[in-house]
Amino acid sequence: MLFGKTILVTGVASGIGARTAELAGQMGADVIGVDVREPAGGSAAFIKGDLSTPSGVAEIVAQLPVRLDALANVAGLSGSTGVVSTLAVNFYGLRALSEAVAPRLREGGAIVNVASIAGYGWRANLERAKSLASIDGFPDVAAVVAEHDLKDEQGYPLSKELLLLWTMRAAHQPLFKNRGIRVNAVSPGPVETPILKQFRAVLGDARVDSDITRVGRAGTSADIAPAVLFLCSDGARWINGTNLAADGGLEASINADVLGF
Ligand SMILES: NC(=O)c1ccc[n+]([C@@H]2O[C@H](COP(=O)([O-])OP(=O)(O)OC[C@H]3O[C@@H](n4cnc5c(N)ncnc54)[C@H](O)[C@@H]3O)[C@@H](O)[C@H]2O)c1
Repeated sequence: MLFGKTILVTGVASGIGARTAELAGQMGADVIGVDVREPAGGSAAFIKGDLSTPSGVAEIVAQLPVRLDALANVAGLSGSTGVVSTLAVNFYGLRALSEAVAPRLREGGAIVNVASIAGYGWRANLERAKSLASIDGFPDVAAVVAEHDLKDEQGYPLSKELLLLWTMRAAHQPLFKNRGIRVNAVSPGPVETPILKQFRAVLGDARVDSDITRVGRAGTSADIAPAVLFLCSDGARWINGTNLAADGGLEASINADVLGF
């Protein structure tokens, strides 16, 4: 399904991004990797770049080929570096990259955003999410944080709430929709990657362990990568604006508690 396709994958130096890039290559795709850190094993085509600033995003885009088939937005921060950097990388930088890459995506191409079960609260916090996602472009994130009095511990869940909301909006945004570019999300639960240790520090062991206990184990990068690549492929051509939970059933279990069924 991916043979001969060119896929841009961010966050390729580690975890889910690394496995997504590897699997895409095994499936016959040409992969261009992006990360702020060099991948340990090297990568066929790699752009070292920083998604946390407008100039960083512009420098990445300037190095891209004119034609791409899909963009997998996997890079992310855990929140341990504070709300400003977390919102910048996980939402505003991701969105800026997607909007800048859109004209290079072929008609019928795809964007896949790796969100998280941590974004579950987007409905409960809808007004905040609408307001922060409605700020156009790549804003001065420190000013946005100050204006909305956002706290460091809010950074990670908020970034994923914004990403889930924007995924649905983007699916109907002319920039993408007019050229048949699909925009979807994949939401993992806890996954055994280097970021998980940071989540334990930010969210607490109890929350992470409770999530793992609900579904029997933590996920692995190999559990998530196929879901990302399916949404990148033409096999998902009628799937748009959706959020695919790749979490062993965690969201279903939380829904049962929250909605009482
Ligand atoms: N591991 C989990 O438990 C889990 C759960 C839900 C969602 N996620 C999401 O999955 C995605 C991938 O996480 P992971 O588990 O592979 O973590 P990871 O820490 O292993 O990988 C994240 C990658 O993003 C890169 N990155 C960070 N800041 C960057 C920047 N400014 N510019 C470019 N690259 C940058 C890092 O260098 C790293 O290689 C993230 O968006 C994360 O929020 C992870």
